[in-house]
Amino acid sequence: MKNITLDTSKAAQFLKAGAVEAYEPQVKAAQEALENGTCPGNDFLGWLHLPSSISADFIKQLQDCANVLRENCEVVVVAGIGGSYLGARAVIEALSNSFAWLVNDKKNPTILFAGNNIGEDYLSELTAYLKDKKFGVINISKSGTTTETALAFRLLKKQCEDQRGKDEAKDVIVAVTDAKKGAARTCADKEGYKSFIIPDNVGGRFSVLTPVGLLPIAVAGFDVKQLVAGAVDMEKACGKDVAFDENPAAIYAATRQALYTQAGKKIEIVCNFQPKLHYFAEWWKQLYGESEGKDQKGIFPAACDFTTDLHSMGQWIQQGERSIFETVISVETPNEKLLFPHDDENLDGLNFLEGKRVDEVNKMAELGTRLAHVDGGVPNILVNVPELNAYYLGQLIYFFEKACGISGLLEEVNPFNQPGVEAYKKNMFALLNKPGYEAESKAIQERLANEK
Ligand code: PA5
Repeated sequence: MKNITLDTSKAAQFLKAGAVEAYEPQVKAAQEALENGTCPGNDFLGWLHLPSSISADFIKQLQDCANVLRENCEVVVVAGIGGSYLGARAVIEALSNSFAWLVNDKKNPTILFAGNNIGEDYLSELTAYLKDKKFGVINISKSGTTTETALAFRLLKKQCEDQRGKDEAKDVIVAVTDAKKGAARTCADKEGYKSFIIPDNVGGRFSVLTPVGLLPIAVAGFDVKQLVAGAVDMEKACGKDVAFDENPAAIYAATRQALYTQAGKKIEIVCNFQPKLHYFAEWWKQLYGESEGKDQKGIFPAACDFTTDLHSMGQWIQQGERSIFETVISVETPNEKLLFPHDDENLDGLNFLEGKRVDEVNKMAELGTRLAHVDGGVPNILVNVPELNAYYLGQLIYFFEKACGISGLLEEVNPFNQPGVEAYKKNMFALLNKPGYEAESKAIQERLANEK
């Protein structure tokens, strides 16, 4: 089996010779700190050897639970936000038919997502869609108290019970949450739901290889064993004893930090030429944004879907402020084969492409874009993925996680906390007069009155 590979040659040309290699001692120190648990955030290192710790028995338990949902539900709604949402969606969308909701083959339940926004229209429309459906719910929340998820779950639980009866609903509602704490745990225990535990030492954005991601992915009908196998192989390929220049996580982390600190590249755009990878980039954005954006530091993580966004963002990327670099996730071989047909009249002038695969054109667009952007002053990192399947997604997930841990430590922040995400919650609860927020409510009302 091949591995994903990294090509940083088109980034190195923007750096002084040896700039990436100079990071070797710091990367080694970061790797050791991760292994020895001596880095900041060391109570959240459960992801580091998570892949190789997943047993066949555990996967069977997950698969058994997934089978119950698959057999008893036309639709499964996955409720969760942030790290309790994006990993599952990233993998499911990457592996699904692009038109899955239109061509439901009845072999797999339709997977929908909720609890990741507070849009009244979204939730009303979801409720209306589910009205005549046999649906189940996976309620995912580590804290068990996240407002967006809890709100959606309250609506979904009631609707599921109303439509299926409390007894039947109990069998198709599953909780993925903390072992002891939080409202989601209390509710699961009281109602007798099947539940899975999110380990204390795995933070949300690093949790896709726990039941947070694995359960919804298995319910969607994808091969979680292969996903984990890919992650296990990448855990080895990015291990602390692998030589610096052979360790893709080390090279990626060092290259992006060199671009940030020495070449003034403050924004990283992850790009794909496969629309199915859109949510993978969303997952990546959270992983790097929450891990590195703190202490007034951090590369801003952005994402583009190409060639789509070449017709919108392409201008900025080619000629805007030169503060960006690109990381292209390139899929070597598509899963399908489609050839351009002959047209006698050739009115569109495209007969020069006759008999070529669509992917050949896409690949030339990809290479042409990389060369143009490099010519325009945008360093380029290439992550080559042999195929878009569960095994290589597992590799990609672990590669980006390991590189993120190293990169955050190179940046000298705690990559495993996210204190900044609390600020909006405090204001929202104060504005909603949540019990316990009386002082904050008074302060925010005074502030708003003064700002009038
Ligand atoms: O990475 C994180 O920690 C966050 O994105 C959380 O996953 C997100 O806020 C959801 O939290 P919870 O799982 O507690 O509902």
